[in-house]
Amino acid sequence: MSRLLVRDLAQLVTPAGTGAPLRGRALGELDVTEDAYVLCQDGRVAGTGRMHDLPAALGDVDELDGRGLVAIPGLVDCHTHACFAGDRVEEFALRAAGATYEELHAGGGGILSTVRATRAAGEDALAAAVERHRRWMLRAGTTTFEAKSGYGLDRDTELAQLRAIRAAGGVPTWLGAHAVPPEFDDADAYTDFALTEVLPQAAALAEAADVFVERGAFGVDQARRYLAAARDAGLTLRLHGDQFSELGAVPLAIELRARSIDHLEATTTDGVAALARSDVTGVLLPASALFLDRPMPPARALVDAGAAVALATDFNPGSAFTESLPLVCSLAATQLHLGPAEALCAVTVNAAHVLDRADRKGRIAPGYDADLVLLDAPDWRYLAYHLGHDHVAAVVLGGERPELG
Ligand code: NIG
Ligand code: FE
Repeated sequence: MSRLLVRDLAQLVTPAGTGAPLRGRALGELDVTEDAYVLCQDGRVAGTGRMHDLPAALGDVDELDGRGLVAIPGLVDCHTHACFAGDRVEEFALRAAGATYEELHAGGGGILSTVRATRAAGEDALAAAVERHRRWMLRAGTTTFEAKSGYGLDRDTELAQLRAIRAAGGVPTWLGAHAVPPEFDDADAYTDFALTEVLPQAAALAEAADVFVERGAFGVDQARRYLAAARDAGLTLRLHGDQFSELGAVPLAIELRARSIDHLEATTTDGVAALARSDVTGVLLPASALFLDRPMPPARALVDAGAAVALATDFNPGSAFTESLPLVCSLAATQLHLGPAEALCAVTVNAAHVLDRADRKGRIAPGYDADLVLLDAPDWRYLAYHLGHDHVAAVVLGGERPELG
């Protein structure tokens, strides 16, 4: 039996209640305990409370000194593209000089330039890349991450990506419909290939399927065909939708009962109202909007209308080269007009819901996985308040102290 006592915490902060996803007022309801402890046993939280209520005879237990620290749940990044080779630093410089992301994509760069590097890398190099990115995420407080394929777009590389993500402990999503690779004439022909040649094996490796609905990528009819086949193969459905243009991805997500629709920078009033009436979670990616100098998604309107929202990094080499959910929380507060408490719920319990793990991730409560982040801050709101700061003093993952080096 392994036990860890995190003691003398300045604050212990966790989303209130047990349900998921949190909507409306419930998004942002937290339990804050001062002068607190967390007892972890066999990878789970065994108890929490105030220090003066700590049971007297705990027996043999490792201790972690929480003085001056704030404990929040391990952060959950529910949307990343963490399995890639190479970089896009040349394109970054071109964009800084005025080129747009869409122009670079149309010219064969963008996603397709990462596809070339990822196809050439080989599975060992991809596994090493995801592992490196996992460590970056962990240092920023992310204890659970999703990662997508989508930089292979041929059978062997897509499957290698999914295996590499699993090997690093990520939650794998098959983004088989990310872009049309150059060896195909059109999106229909590529969709046929992906569904007949890749889906049967991808379905055994991935938990979800995702599609990029956008001009120059996949239209609504192709996306419907791709997602319906993925659903029949047992995968949860997700969409990249309304990033640049509102093509009908929101109604499609609702029609197919998708778990999430992600981006929503171009979503207007009807889309907000429709999402609020649905069970589809809107995953907001403000680091991507910032990185591409695009409009921010209508986060405040979504929350006020009662939609379920989560926040994620979109970590990738082209449109969001950041692994930091604390930065995303700062952007949520300064750009999306969400309070720090709403942001914290959106990167914990609601993100865990998107990954179908809200029964064990995203809260610090008995029975949940013992995943904690200890912030070197006097108040948990520093997570969003201290812009760009490295707050993470320690991480507990499954009741253990992982290497952060
Ligand atoms: O979510 N929009 C499409 N896909 C990614 C970008 C991937 C890339 O640029 O490599 C996104 O922003
Ligand atoms: Fe993305």
